[in-house]
This record gives sequence, structure tokens and C-alpha cells, in this order.
Amino acid sequence: MKTIKVMFAVAIMALMFASCGKKEKILVLYYSQTGNTKAVAEEFANRLGADIEEITAIVPYDGDFQATIERCKEEMALDSLPDINCLKHNINEYDVIFIGYPVWFGTYAPPIASFLKDNNLSGKKIVPFCTFGSGGLESSKKDLVDAQPDAWILPAYGVRAARMDFMPQEVETFLIANGFIKGKYLYPVTFSYPHPVSDADIALYDAAVKGYPMLNARPVEVGFRSNNGDLEYVYTAVDEPRMPAPDDGDKKPDLPPAGKVKVYVKIIPGVDTSFTRVVR
Ligand SMILES: Cc1cc2nc3c(=O)[nH]c(=O)nc-3n(C[C@H](O)[C@H](O)[C@H](O)COP(=O)(O)O)c2cc1C
Repeated sequence: MKTIKVMFAVAIMALMFASCGKKEKILVLYYSQTGNTKAVAEEFANRLGADIEEITAIVPYDGDFQATIERCKEEMALDSLPDINCLKHNINEYDVIFIGYPVWFGTYAPPIASFLKDNNLSGKKIVPFCTFGSGGLESSKKDLVDAQPDAWILPAYGVRAARMDFMPQEVETFLIANGFIKGKYLYPVTFSYPHPVSDADIALYDAAVKGYPMLNARPVEVGFRSNNGDLEYVYTAVDEPRMPAPDDGDKKPDLPPAGKVKVYVKIIPGVDTSFTRVVR
């Protein structure tokens, strides 16, 4: 009897060790209209040796920017989501799913909303990633948590469409920081306590947001930190009201100010000074 008990215990331990060493299966899923998110998805899949698949709408969003905006507005008014094609991969076979999307209207693009509605990701580890004009990482991640409350939503990666050159390096750093691949990573310190902006701070802000017309915010205070050798600034800025064109007569501004926004600026010495994201 004692021998049987010992053999049983040994078998259980062997099973435990076997499952501890089991490599997690990773799938990278993404939707992309103009190729930015596709490039990030491929970067993740290559570095992880993971399977990858594109989510596609049965009726593709193949119009230009304005046509896509119009179609989305119509769909939002009708509270409808696009039908998407069936996936070739069986998501049940995967432990970790990276989900990538462009930010549209502050959240994930509609084909991703369709995917999240059609699939139950309970218990799975989800790594959101996105590309955007100015921001939407935080808001879209929050929507993802709301859509799949029983999934384990891990830290997310996002990059501006204008900063795609920095994406491969950032993806590597992100994967190291989150334990997916091995490498050296210095965890960033917190930002300094914010101080009112000086003329030099304003000049840096202006240089960082130059060429991005959609951001119309005036910086009021700033904090900074050193992040893996780069300097990073977080500005608190106040959205300016957008006034109507002069010939609009007495009309009130058609877009209300969004209030305070956080604008993150990274300085990579000798290479780049641009904003990395806006958090509304
Ligand atoms: C319909 C539409 C809505 C968009 N909305 C936002 C937005 O709310 N915030 C933002 O920063 N960028 C927005 N963008 C810009 C896209 O997120 C950005 O260009 C993205 O990199 C496109 O990714 P893709 O090449 O994978 O399609 C929008 C683009 C489109 C077409």
C-alpha cells in the first residue's frame, strides 16, 4: 500500500513538473486597414515565433479616411457591428492572445469589437496592442477589459502611426519588460512632481507636437523622468476651444474642448523629439 502511495505521489509530481515547463501557445490576431497594425503584429509574431492571423470584415473597410469615417458613423448610429470572416486558427488552443487594432474613434476598430462579441476569452491572457494618430491605448484597453471581464488583460503596447520607425525596438523592449523574451531592461522611475511650464518646456512641447494639427492643447505643467536612457516628459495640457470659421457668424464652437489631456514626449538624443501619445 505504501509503495502505491509513493508511486502515486511521484506520478503527481512528474505531472506538475511537466505542466510547469509547458511553453505557452501564443496567437497574434490583428485587424489593420492601412498596414500599420499589420507591421506591429508581424513584429510580435516574428519575435515570439507565434502563429498569426488577420481579422477581416466580410464587407471590407476599403474606402479612404473620410469614407471610413462616414461608414463608421452610420454603423454607430444603427448600433451595428460588421460581420467578420471565420478564423482559421482555433483560439481555444492558445494560452496567450495578442490582439492588435488601429484606434478608431478612441477605441478598437469595429472588426475587433465584432471579434470580442463573438468570442469568449475567459481565462486567457490577452496582450492588446494598437496604432493610432495621437492616442487611444488606455481608452481602448479599458473597453477591452469591459468587453471581456473574465480575461486576463496584460499590459498593452501602442505606437503612433508617425513613429513606426521606432516600433521594432519598442516591441522588443515591451516583450522583455513583460517577460516574454529575455533581455536587459531597466524599469523606469516614476515621473517627477509636475512643475509649471517654463519657456524652454513650452519650446520642447511645440517641437514635439509640430505637424500634428488635431492636437490643439496648451501645456500648463510638466514632469519628467529618465526611461532606459531616454528622457521622457509628461505634459498636462488644456484643450483649446475650436472656434468656428470667421464667416460662420454667431455660431458657437462646434467642438467643445476636451478638458485636460496628458501629452507624453520622448527625447531620443540626436534622433527624435516627438510626442508618443495623448491620453484624454
Ligand atoms: C475611421 C478612423 C478613425 C480614427 N480614429 C482615431 C482616433 O480616434 N484617434 C487616433 O489617434 N487615431 C485615429 N485614427 C488613425 C488610425 O488609428 C491610425 O492611422 C492607425 O495607425 C491606422 O492603422 P492601420 O494602418 O493598421 O489601419 C483613425 C483612423 C480612421 C480611419
